[in-house]
Amino acid sequence: MAFHRPKISVFGAGFVGATVAQRCADRELGDVLLIDIVEDMPQGKGLDMFESSPVERFDARVNGSNKPADVAGSDVVVVTSGIARKPGMSRDDLLTTNAKIVQSVADSIREHAPNAIVIMVTNPLDVMSWVAHKRLGFPKNRVMGMAGVLDSARMASFVAMELNCSVKDISPMVLGGHGDTMVPLPRYTTVSGIPITDLLPADRIEAINDRTRKGGAEIVALLKTGSAYYAPGSSVVAMVESIVKDQRRILPTCALLEGEYGLKDTWQGVPCMLGKNGIEKIYELKLNDAEQKLLATSNEHVAGAIRQAAQLLGM
Ligand code: NAI
Ligand code: 2OP
Repeated sequence: MAFHRPKISVFGAGFVGATVAQRCADRELGDVLLIDIVEDMPQGKGLDMFESSPVERFDARVNGSNKPADVAGSDVVVVTSGIARKPGMSRDDLLTTNAKIVQSVADSIREHAPNAIVIMVTNPLDVMSWVAHKRLGFPKNRVMGMAGVLDSARMASFVAMELNCSVKDISPMVLGGHGDTMVPLPRYTTVSGIPITDLLPADRIEAINDRTRKGGAEIVALLKTGSAYYAPGSSVVAMVESIVKDQRRILPTCALLEGEYGLKDTWQGVPCMLGKNGIEKIYELKLNDAEQKLLATSNEHVAGAIRQAAQLLGM
């Protein structure tokens, strides 16, 4: 019998990429490869992580490389390469620089790992997912973006703070683009099955929604030199785990929509089942008029940014 440990490659060995690599290895999700353009750095981080394995007692190889071709044989590829936000910068400010980086990374994945499932992380997330999918030419189930798990985790954290309850019983839901127009859904955010709309007054819920929408900027303002990476790293790893273990979890995922939610040819965060084929299924929540309107606004923002990217990149 041939045994096969999944190969998980991570482009970008910076803050998010290294956190993803470490958590994938700790959880024994597979062998991990960090790829970065900075000479020797991914090799150093990979070796350092592997040297933690006898102490942490995990069985996973962690390697680093400067050669994009080493992505060959990957089952899952996470793309974090690009620049991160500094204070005062919006995610869209990153568009031009990161689109070029994502295009070159997508070319390497297409050439060397044509069967991989790709999880985009680089910002602006929804647009970079579009760029990657176009450039890769992979079926839509094998290209997705991470944002909803993170935005939902932030919402769950704020609910736990507000109710002074365990995070473990909170099941949050945030739809839409990864930006200020994202759509936290209190009606679909439950604590042990109880919607938070039954647990908290409207003004407290609005405060939670607002803090969720600004969750990324809150961390940028505190860190001053970059953006969040612990919660983003955990969020990516939840998606990787669901795929490599075929757990079929339903997680908010940035996906190509082709009619779902009345939206076409656009990328939005929606609940998706993630399994061995990537996106196994997209779920359509029943939204009320107000929620539908918020999603439409979020999509207008993303669609505008995609149009801008298309012009800029001649795609
Ligand atoms: P970072 O600056 O620590 O790491 C980025 C790494 O990418 C650097 O090491 C850089 O050398 C590398 N890189 C640049 N071009 C490359 C190429 N062609 N091939 C391989 N590596 C390359 O940044 P950080 O904090 O890790 O963030 C990475 C990206 O993820 C940013 O765009 C950030 O905005 C985004 N992000 C997205 C989140 C989301 O929810 N989708 C959450 C957090 C960050
Ligand atoms: C975040 O939400 C910067 O998109 C990143 O933390």
